[in-house]
Amino acid sequence: MRVLLTGGMGFIGSHTAVVLLEAGHEVVLYDNLSNSDAAVVDRITEIAGRRPVFIEGDIRDENLLVETLSSRAIEAVIHFAGLKAVGESVEKPLDYYDNNLAGSISLFKAMRSCGVKKLIFSSSSTVYGEPAQLPLTESCPTRKATNPYGRTKLQIEEMLSDLAVADPSLSIVCLRYFNPIGAHPSGLIGEDPNGIPNNLLPYVARVASGRLPELHVYGNDYATPDGTGVRDYIHVMDLAEGHAKALEYASHSRGWTAVNLGCGRGYSVLEVIHAFEKASGRKIPYRLEPRRNGDIAANWCDPSLAARLLGWKASRNIDDMCRDAWNFECRQSARQSHSETSCCK
Ligand code: NAD
Ligand code: WQD
Repeated sequence: MRVLLTGGMGFIGSHTAVVLLEAGHEVVLYDNLSNSDAAVVDRITEIAGRRPVFIEGDIRDENLLVETLSSRAIEAVIHFAGLKAVGESVEKPLDYYDNNLAGSISLFKAMRSCGVKKLIFSSSSTVYGEPAQLPLTESCPTRKATNPYGRTKLQIEEMLSDLAVADPSLSIVCLRYFNPIGAHPSGLIGEDPNGIPNNLLPYVARVASGRLPELHVYGNDYATPDGTGVRDYIHVMDLAEGHAKALEYASHSRGWTAVNLGCGRGYSVLEVIHAFEKASGRKIPYRLEPRRNGDIAANWCDPSLAARLLGWKASRNIDDMCRDAWNFECRQSARQSHSETSCCK
């Protein structure tokens, strides 16, 4: 299939590009590089042995999207592009509504103009808010999110559901990711946020490699087995494979569907620290801090709909996730210090 990946140079998009290229799809990456590096396209090429097309562009540029969709005869879109930092979204809500919401509207209009009917959308477990029950199934109520980022995800899902009612020939799959971590086993692509990471895993990796001095553990008084927050971590390669399966599903289905992508079990912050210590052979110094605003105690999903509908199930465990994240951290810190050997060895 000829597939356009908006935000395809980012963390999840780049891994998905590798999986799709390896499966024989034609891949076009469309990204404004606001949170990614132009070198990623070479790394994808090195891993997959085939070069995707890269177009530097913004999803708010409807004309460029129409030109790209039509000139490349695109059959399906996977829509990753968006801003994703929860804290930043509270400080700069307009940026988030403009980029994520207005950007998505521009994309959906371009798709309509060009007759592109298949769409996979990067949604998030954040649409469930504070879980009323665990595990979370797709029929659990979606709730008002606690931040503008989360609201854009829910609003886009709702907009897509309306579009699918208005045009029954559309095929739309909203993938609700739980907590994606890890990296491609080559260590060539992974997650390396600018500045101080917000998310647990990139933070832990930088503490292990000595790029940051210690981890702050936000809260040890939750109603969880060890008091720290529990999440359903999923290897980014499993997630990428989920997109390939969703694409197959979208090629024969119609309408709007939401599907959880997670492993179906939770790990606490302390369990993640211990798994990372095992993978890296490094001690992770940490300090207990008060709870972080807006955090929930625990969430994990029931991934059985993904198994039934898409024929997908996560196959990598927390040790695989930490091993691959550590390998990427070592290579990335070596690349950034331009040294031949990594500080992590
Ligand atoms: P990422 O920041 O690594 O990738 C997003 C990509 O989109 C970046 O390359 C960025 O340059 C690009 N982009 C942003 N705005 C754009 C615009 N206006 N036009 C064109 N390109 C634009 O993020 P990621 O972790 O790969 O996440 C991908 C998607 O998955 C996002 O929509 C995110 O909200 C969603 N998601 C991520 C997580 C997570 O924990 N990583 C969890 C749930 C959902
Ligand atoms: C995980 C756990 C923290 C950092 C966020 C978004 C969500 C989704 C994924 C996009 C929590 C604890 C973290 C640290 C810590 N993104 N923690 N010290 O909050 O589950 O989800 O990313 O859709 O929308 O909200 O992920 O990795 O930030 O936190 O103790 O330095 O680690 O309190 O319990 P989260 P996270």
